[in-house]
Amino acid sequence: MWPRLAFCCWGLALVSGWATFQQMSPSRNFSFRLFPEAAPGVPGRLPAPPVPGEEAAESKVERLGQAFRRRVRRLRELSERLELVFLVDESSSVGHANFLSELKFVRKLLSDFPVVSTATRVAIVTFSSKNNVVPRVDYISSSRAHQHKCALLSREIPAITYRGGGTYTKGAFQQAAQILSHSRENSTKVIFLITDGYSNGGDPRPIAASLRDFGVEIFTFGIWQGNIRELNDMASTPKEEHCYLLHSFEEFEALARRALHEDLPSGSFIQEDMSHCSYLCEAGKDCCDRMASCKCGTHTGQFECICEKGYYGKGLQYECTACPPGTYKPEGSPGGISTCIPCPDENHTSPPGSTAPEDCVCREGYRASGQTCEVRTCPHLRQPKHGHISCSTGEMSYKTTCLVTCDEGYRLEGNAKLTCQGNAQWDGAEPRCVERHCSTFQKPKGVIISPSNCGKQPAKPGTICQLSCHQGFILSGVREVRCTSSGKWSARVQTAVCKDVEAPQISCPKDIEAKTQNQQDSANITWQIPTAKDNSGEKVSIHVHPAFIPPSLFPIGDVVITYTARDLSGNQASCTFHVRVIDVEPPVIDQCRSPPPIQVSEEEYAASWDEPQFSDNSGAVLTITRSHTQGDLFPHGETVVRYTATDPSGNNRTCDIHIVIKGSPCEVPFTPINGDFTCVQDSAGVNCTLSCLEGYDFTEGSTEKYYCAYDDGIWRPPYSTEWPDCAIKRFANHGFKSFEMLYKATRCDDTDLLKKFSEAFQTTLGKMVPSFCSDADDIDCRLEDLTKKYCLEYNYDYENGFAIGNYII
Ligand SMILES: *[C@@H]1O[C@H](CO)[C@@H](O)[C@H](O)[C@H]1NC(C)=O
Ligand SMILES: *[C@@H]1O[C@H](CO)[C@@H](O)[C@H](O)[C@H]1NC(C)=O
Ligand SMILES: *[C@@H]1O[C@H](CO)[C@@H](O)[C@H](O)[C@H]1NC(C)=O
Ligand SMILES: *[C@@H]1O[C@H](CO)[C@@H](O)[C@H](O)[C@H]1NC(C)=O
Ligand SMILES: *[C@@H]1O[C@H](CO)[C@@H](O)[C@H](O)[C@H]1NC(C)=O
Ligand SMILES: *[C@@H]1O[C@H](CO)[C@@H](O)[C@H](O)[C@H]1NC(C)=O
Repeated sequence: MWPRLAFCCWGLALVSGWATFQQMSPSRNFSFRLFPEAAPGVPGRLPAPPVPGEEAAESKVERLGQAFRRRVRRLRELSERLELVFLVDESSSVGHANFLSELKFVRKLLSDFPVVSTATRVAIVTFSSKNNVVPRVDYISSSRAHQHKCALLSREIPAITYRGGGTYTKGAFQQAAQILSHSRENSTKVIFLITDGYSNGGDPRPIAASLRDFGVEIFTFGIWQGNIRELNDMASTPKEEHCYLLHSFEEFEALARRALHEDLPSGSFIQEDMSHCSYLCEAGKDCCDRMASCKCGTHTGQFECICEKGYYGKGLQYECTACPPGTYKPEGSPGGISTCIPCPDENHTSPPGSTAPEDCVCREGYRASGQTCEVRTCPHLRQPKHGHISCSTGEMSYKTTCLVTCDEGYRLEGNAKLTCQGNAQWDGAEPRCVERHCSTFQKPKGVIISPSNCGKQPAKPGTICQLSCHQGFILSGVREVRCTSSGKWSARVQTAVCKDVEAPQISCPKDIEAKTQNQQDSANITWQIPTAKDNSGEKVSIHVHPAFIPPSLFPIGDVVITYTARDLSGNQASCTFHVRVIDVEPPVIDQCRSPPPIQVSEEEYAASWDEPQFSDNSGAVLTITRSHTQGDLFPHGETVVRYTATDPSGNNRTCDIHIVIKGSPCEVPFTPINGDFTCVQDSAGVNCTLSCLEGYDFTEGSTEKYYCAYDDGIWRPPYSTEWPDCAIKRFANHGFKSFEMLYKATRCDDTDLLKKFSEAFQTTLGKMVPSFCSDADDIDCRLEDLTKKYCLEYNYDYENGFAIGNYII
């Protein structure tokens, strides 16, 4: 029984409180005693308060505070719909100072309740005398704007003035009942009675009881000196948790301090005019940040600069910071960065200063899947042919990097490193491994490459190309190139050169032999200029020495013509042929005159003559030979002097000069054959008679007598070849002697004339013929006309002119 009672209406005194209280109220004497409540049903019997000891007092205060804390905590849980009515004793016995202590207690008690019309509503009724029960604050009866804790604490409570008077507790409860009649449905209704304990003007307990019955929870706080029983009776049950007796008013505050401030829920904030926050900084105005507003904290009861939603910080000037990306803050409430709420997903992000979860969007590389984010994946990459891929993740999600390498002999086409981007695409095309190829090359001029398609198209590694030259060329530089596995040719093909070492071919015309042109010392000769062929197929230059261009005049003699062909590489060949011009024309005689015969008496004579003159087509000096020279001694008779002119080519011509030397005059010029001259000389001349030897005779009609006078030395008849020789004497038998007779006539066509001619001729001749034959008897001569007569054309060739007929004797 005792320990249970000990919890109710403990008197509480603190050392500090005691000292303070003595100063403030020297007329009163408080002892450290505990007053247990009178047991119900045992009225008037109160146990004596225990003698206070320091340790006991301390633990008792602790226990009292714990009990009050429990109640307050329960009320706080209901604070969202709570009606609190404070009945504050304003009587003269309390005094001004303690009245302020009472109000302080009220303030402290309220500190954990969100005073605002939508949560905890408050009314403060001060009471003293009957006519002085005043609702100083009443947020319950009528709900208006700006009825919040800040207004209460900063304006309304400070405005409550102390007046003094009696202690009309009953009236206070009546007033409370009046106010609570406006309380909200289902609200928790609480009355705190704070008094020094002595009530007057009527028993307040019945109305307190009816209020309790009505559901109002009543707490009573009193000074041990007061009417302890009355306070105990008015309080709700359990009494020990509703009735608190203290030793001084200051202890109310201490009690409240122990009971409250367990934690500080943020509560709600009510927007207020900026001027309410002017006290927060030294400048006295514009204390809040641009991104903050002045608000009343319904828990703290303080006007505070509160950063707007999306911002955190102290709220003072420059002290609001936007919530970082990935968080948001839906309300303007005080607090540090922890008041920024993380987005639902770790991989969400949001603009700085976001205010709602809707601001949360999936980060780059993620896509929304309900409230959460799913990482995006890029298209799957396959192992490349002839290569290898290695990725940082298997599923190829965002930010996966893949490295691609190619096998030996293969070359990477595309990026070696691929990164999966936020748009679920790789940052490059899928790489391929392509076989390395050696590039095509320009075939060096004149070089043969085998196989022939080598270098014309990209070659595979291992390809070998052989280089060579055409016949007649020598290769210098590389002889073979190979395509290496790195895709490069083993050597530079361009260093290969085919050098021409073969001379051109040239053939000359056959030797030419020609005769000089008539009366010329040269010949006009033409030939085909030789052409040359060269293995290079390129132009070949041809030179000729000496520089003859056909047709051309060549002098007598032999000329060797050399043609030389030279190709661009300097190889040369030559050929020669002869042009021979032969002189076949003998020299000509310009003058070849024999001198007249010379008659000398000497045996020999040194004759002279004009030198014969020769000339030749060659114009060359002629070689002249002669049989005699001028001044040689010549014998009588005729001597031939022969000149022969020979040109350098061996052609000759002769010229004969007849030298005739005669002896003394009238010499018998010759000795006839088979006969002789018989000559008789006198002083005037010589007579010679021709006589034949026995058996020889002269031909018919020959002259026998010749005479030469010394005067002139000329024989008469003159000497000629007609001078006869002697012939054998013979006799003809029936012989014929035919002869022709020619008559000159102007016409041939007159046959009568011709007939007359021949008859006349025949008659005349016929008379003559017998006389020829008269010398001998046995010879019969007659004329026979044998042939017809013709008229012949005049013929100059004929020695005797022309003829008309033919007669045979
Ligand atoms: C208070 O008590 C003290 C002793 O405890 C006494 O000396 C004093 O006179 C008392 N004062 C009053 C007003 O009773
Ligand atoms: C009050 O409480 C009752 C029962 O708990 C409930 O049915 C009623 O709706 C409440 N009234 C209000 C206004 O909350
Ligand atoms: C966010 O993404 C990372 C990397 O993709 C991943 O490891 C992590 O699990 C993701 N977080 C959530 C909540 O899915
Ligand atoms: C040589 O003969 C050619 C014809 O064959 C002729 O045209 C040219 O004039 C001649 N030259 C001389 C110098 O007579
Ligand atoms: C002259 O030429 C002829 C033939 O051409 C030759 O027989 C003769 O011996 C030559 N005479 C001289 C003196 O050379
Ligand atoms: C030679 O003959 C001529 C005449 O016939 C004659 O006169 C002369 O006397 C003769 N001389 C001699 C020496 O007989």
